[in-house]
Amino acid sequence: MPGILLDTLRGNNARRRPLWLMRQAGRYLPEYRELRAEKGGFLALVYDTDAAAEITLQPIRRFGFDGAILFSDILIVPYAMGQDLQFLAGEGPKLTPRLVDHALSGLTQVPERLSPIYETVRKVRAELAVDKTMLGFAGSPWTVATYMVAGEGSRDQHDTRAMAYRDPQAFGAIIDAVIQVTVEYLCGQIEAGAEAVQLFDSWAGSLSPAQFERWVIAPNAAITAAVKARHPEIPIIGFPKGSGEKLPAYARETGVDAVGIDETIDPIWAARELPEGLPVQGNLDPLLLLAGGDELDQQARAVLDAFADRPHVFNLGHGIGQHTPIANVEQLLAIVRNWER
Ligand code: CP3
Repeated sequence: MPGILLDTLRGNNARRRPLWLMRQAGRYLPEYRELRAEKGGFLALVYDTDAAAEITLQPIRRFGFDGAILFSDILIVPYAMGQDLQFLAGEGPKLTPRLVDHALSGLTQVPERLSPIYETVRKVRAELAVDKTMLGFAGSPWTVATYMVAGEGSRDQHDTRAMAYRDPQAFGAIIDAVIQVTVEYLCGQIEAGAEAVQLFDSWAGSLSPAQFERWVIAPNAAITAAVKARHPEIPIIGFPKGSGEKLPAYARETGVDAVGIDETIDPIWAARELPEGLPVQGNLDPLLLLAGGDELDQQARAVLDAFADRPHVFNLGHGIGQHTPIANVEQLLAIVRNWER
């Protein structure tokens, strides 16, 4: 029996609402901080497949979430495309050479950098109860390209947006290369045991409508079609964060099976505007989980009520913050579990 998360992503209305949280394996958990202190940096943890599997399972053991999201990062794809990746304390990730001043053709792919991730998926799936869903993921090409081009995070993806206008051909070649590797990467995760996958387009919100069509919708559609050609039974969740009123077009045109919604979207608007019967995921503000109290209760119920008539996976609007109190996560779980259709 597949669990209620997979069932919901396939379009069914379960009585209870399935729940997982983006970044649920991470720094708000004392057991994660302990392992990280012992093993060193983030990348060392990702490439220690026993540690990565253990971290993926930590939030399932503690809270019993319905899905386990692979402990890894969206920047593993550029690393496998031949950029060097470092996580510097207090500075965030750095990719070198950055493609703002280095040709893509100068990189040599290193596909072996993906194999340990598949090993982690295999280890987690072997440990996970059958009614829990193993979730794989990748960054979407636009979001991944913003880091490949700038070499680091940037306030409004300025360099990459400029390059996409100045030299759409060169930029399109980067997007196409990311599409290819991402399709292989997601299929590799699925073949290792991932039962659903999510495409994270964290910076989809920085694009104008025409650029959104070209660099968000088209690449997500291409990946969805290629993965579905090989694994038609695996649900794909698209999460174009910040896309606002462009969300219905994204839902209609990409072919994804479910759409993730961030906290800036009114859930009542989303329930009305998204295609009928399309599963949705989201969208409690992660800061409410930090704050707790009555407001958390009320807003969580408002999300549950708004999506009462369609398949809905309860989640946050983006990742859980590192200072989130464990007690507030427990409070949220009680609200979601006690709600019934
Ligand atoms: O829900 C998930 O866990 C999905 C996987 C995921 C992670 N990061 C896991 C992660 C995704 C989709 C990301 C996105 C990501 N990673 C972005 C895009 C912006 C966003 O937040 O969506 C960026 C810029 C990164 C790069 C990155 N990875 C940073 C800046 C950090 C924190 C700094 C550090 O040195 O730890 C990471 C680490 C990271 N990625 C963790 C996890 C679970 C570590 C734990 C934590 O920060 O809580």
